[in-house]
Amino acid sequence: MAASTSPSPLLLAVLFLHLLPTLLAAASLPELPLSTASRWVVGADGRRVKLACANWASHLEPAAAEGLARRGVGDIAARVAGMGFNCVRLTWPTYLATNGTLASLPFRWSLERLGLRESVAGVRVNNPALLDLPLIDVFREVISALAGKGIMVILDNQMTTPGWCCSRTDGDGFFGDKYFDPNEWLKGLRAMATMFNDTKNVVGMSLRNELRGPNQNVSLWYRYMALGAEAVHAANPNLLVILSGLDFDNTLSFLHSKKAELQFTGKLVYEQHWYGFSDGGNWEIRNQNDACRMVVDSIWAKGLFLLQQGWPLFFSEFGFDMSGTHIGDNRNLTCFLSVAAEMDLDWAIWALQGSCYIREAIFGL
Ligand SMILES: *[C@@H]1O[C@H](CO)[C@@H](O)[C@H](O)[C@H]1NC(C)=O
Ligand SMILES: *[C@@H]1O[C@H](CO)[C@@H](O)[C@H](O)[C@H]1NC(C)=O
Ligand SMILES: *[C@@H]1O[C@H](CO)[C@@H](O)[C@H](O)[C@H]1NC(C)=O
Ligand SMILES: *[C@@H]1O[C@H](CO)[C@@H](O)[C@H](O)[C@H]1NC(C)=O
Repeated sequence: MAASTSPSPLLLAVLFLHLLPTLLAAASLPELPLSTASRWVVGADGRRVKLACANWASHLEPAAAEGLARRGVGDIAARVAGMGFNCVRLTWPTYLATNGTLASLPFRWSLERLGLRESVAGVRVNNPALLDLPLIDVFREVISALAGKGIMVILDNQMTTPGWCCSRTDGDGFFGDKYFDPNEWLKGLRAMATMFNDTKNVVGMSLRNELRGPNQNVSLWYRYMALGAEAVHAANPNLLVILSGLDFDNTLSFLHSKKAELQFTGKLVYEQHWYGFSDGGNWEIRNQNDACRMVVDSIWAKGLFLLQQGWPLFFSEFGFDMSGTHIGDNRNLTCFLSVAAEMDLDWAIWALQGSCYIREAIFGL
């Protein structure tokens, strides 16, 4: 064979090595549905299932999973499995479930209306089959690609309106805020839970991400979280129902005195977030051990205590600068990892996407 018409052995070897992790990668789903046994999440066979998840954003303005302009959805799913994750916390805005105009908007139009022509071109190359699908079907296809690789999905309601989350003053932080109508939210939860009632790998729902802001209120937390939990459970009793705390999900301390009161058992999980920029550690300047002790004490009082009391607690967001050049990040990550190992935590790293189509008005951030 002439060299010009056949690929060189070296090229073939490189291609093979490049594709190998993708070819091999597939987790297998545990026995489903999941439920809880004291502080543990367990499979239908009663064996512990440790959630080792990556967050994957799908709630920004385009209302589609990030990264689809860069890689095929099947390839991304294979990489998720290849990296050892067994689940994805997939974010969604309420309107994707409740606003038919948005849900039925073709992916291409959703990108075009935001001026994202390069992303359209990227999706055309990497995910041609998704380009003209309605947004809600793109969402389903992402879940189905993850199912194909044995990856569980936790649906996370991030915002009402598509867009980057979260600020204290975005009007989307607590029940009754300008953009956070509890009835719209309940309708969205019900619709999503119903939509995936026969989709095995959808194993749980985070009812609302990072409650926050000037109007947050403990007594309303109990009222609305119970309504949301019952709505999800009635529509889809297989799902774990996952409840965020207050103060951007840093605080669940109010649960010391009283837990959420639900009509069903064996499905309730709490979630807590831990970012060094908000943990008060002053990591750059303080002795690392002192900072870690102080932060762990505080995180314990704010939420970790739930584990000791026999309730599952999912660390559904933590994150750091993966370049390794950020001293504070390196230090607090070590602290987080030691706690994650010692307490055998269930967790989800923020985040899978390397960039966003558009974030806070900046393309490709
Ligand atoms: C529904 O979504 C469409 C498309 O994004 C938007 O133009 C419209 O304002 C939304 N409706 C509501 C009630 O938010
Ligand atoms: C599941 O949802 C579909 C609609 O998507 C509905 O028709 C069906 O009754 C639901 N099944 C159960 C068991 O709730
Ligand atoms: C919380 O909401 C309840 C019910 O609306 C209200 O009675 C109470 O005053 C609120 N508490 C605070 C601290 O705003
Ligand atoms: C660690 O702390 C730095 C600086 O305080 C912060 O920017 C970073 O997000 C933190 N990382 C983690 C993993 O919490």
